[in-house]
Amino acid sequence: MGAPGAEFAARFGAPATHGARAPGRVNLIGEHVDYEGYAVLPMAVALETWVCVRRAPAGAEAGVLVVANADGAQYPEVELPADPGARVDRERHSWANYFQAGYKGVFEHLRREGRPAPEPYGLQVMVRGRVPAGSGLSSSSALVVASAAAVAAVHGLEFSRQEIAEFTRVCEQHVGTMSGGMDQAISVMGEQGLAKLIEFGPVRASDVILPPGCAFVIANSLTVSKKAETAAGRYNLRVLECRLAAVLLAIALGTPPEEAAASVQVLKDVEAALGAAGKRVGDLLHDAPYSLVEVEGLLGASIEAVAGADFLPSVRAAAEFGGFKLRQRAEHVYSEAQRVLRFRDLCNSSASSSAASGETLAALGKMMDESHASCSVQYECSSPELEELTGLARELGALGARLTGAGWGGCMVALVKEGDVGPYIQALKDRFFQKRVASGELDASDLDSVVFATGPCPGASWGRMTTAGALES
Ligand code: GLA
Repeated sequence: MGAPGAEFAARFGAPATHGARAPGRVNLIGEHVDYEGYAVLPMAVALETWVCVRRAPAGAEAGVLVVANADGAQYPEVELPADPGARVDRERHSWANYFQAGYKGVFEHLRREGRPAPEPYGLQVMVRGRVPAGSGLSSSSALVVASAAAVAAVHGLEFSRQEIAEFTRVCEQHVGTMSGGMDQAISVMGEQGLAKLIEFGPVRASDVILPPGCAFVIANSLTVSKKAETAAGRYNLRVLECRLAAVLLAIALGTPPEEAAASVQVLKDVEAALGAAGKRVGDLLHDAPYSLVEVEGLLGASIEAVAGADFLPSVRAAAEFGGFKLRQRAEHVYSEAQRVLRFRDLCNSSASSSAASGETLAALGKMMDESHASCSVQYECSSPELEELTGLARELGALGARLTGAGWGGCMVALVKEGDVGPYIQALKDRFFQKRVASGELDASDLDSVVFATGPCPGASWGRMTTAGALES
């Protein structure tokens, strides 16, 4: 299903003039490492979000953004200020916050670059999302990227893909999650038939050729992972734990606390010093959770002073959970970052053969299993349903299976031999999904959208729309 052109015309009485589509993604390996400066390895998927837009005619809507959704029953229409300086109301958790974040991002980017910004005006907007929300396939970034690209198009602004990837990473944080840049980058830089190694600082993408003869099967655990709503005790807490681990590692390696707090932002910043000292994380950080008092004693300052007031809700959440698990989080990040590069090397070195050897596929699958175990045990971002699903995936013959995306629910991705895909998906339906159909949790007609195989798809596109409701080529 393409652009919501008919819905736009029905709601606003005229066709949209500009639009954008942006895909969701599945991350094949490299979880919770992007915000620590390390590369990830995702591919864009066929599920996408559309944003169609037109300048509001003079009159009541001239100064506002009227943001409607083709699925109005689930996502009610919202009016937002056209002022790009208006704050995103994080507490409201509206779906339209993601549109507003993308909208603000365009203007903020121009300001940062010192480029002239257009005078803001009212917009009529219609959104249609096909990336299931909270599934770990990055519905949020698909909406932010499509919104930013459509807003750029209607204002006649030209941005490169790299620029969009860079500024949508920053602006999505308006919604309240301190996320890294993987989802936005692959949504803009994805390519048909290719997975991508995405690196940061600055963001860039290089090709990863997936081994012939294998397929990736995505299955939804059906537990919705509400990243923004649960950020304080989950996602943002992990970002904070990594930051604290990085600073405490630098201090343990001899950097004075004040200097460490100022110069060390992410775990990547201390990797070289760790290596040079011949130390491992476990030599310098203890296993038991760190209390607030202990961390602040080592820092010689409050966590707020070091990490910023945005993390205060996460500090409170950590106290409830019994402290910060710094050693475990750092060990996950360093080991996962290495797996990503090994995975990429193995994929690219098997690209010239007509079918990857059983040994190669087994090695890739093993890395995916190790990644999942590290996410589950060290990073604690799995869920009982994801454990059941990945366990079943392996039992049914997958070469490897892991949670994908932020975790705490959402989807898993499994590596399967191409010839086995049909029976494999059927077996997953029989063993995991049928009982959920029987209990009423899942509608039988949705079975094919909760478990499916996919290859890499193209990234976002945007521009003028034809009156027939398609993007002009
Ligand atoms: C979310 C974030 C990404 C990344 C993943 C975990 O999808 O948006 O930046 O951190 O979680 O790998």
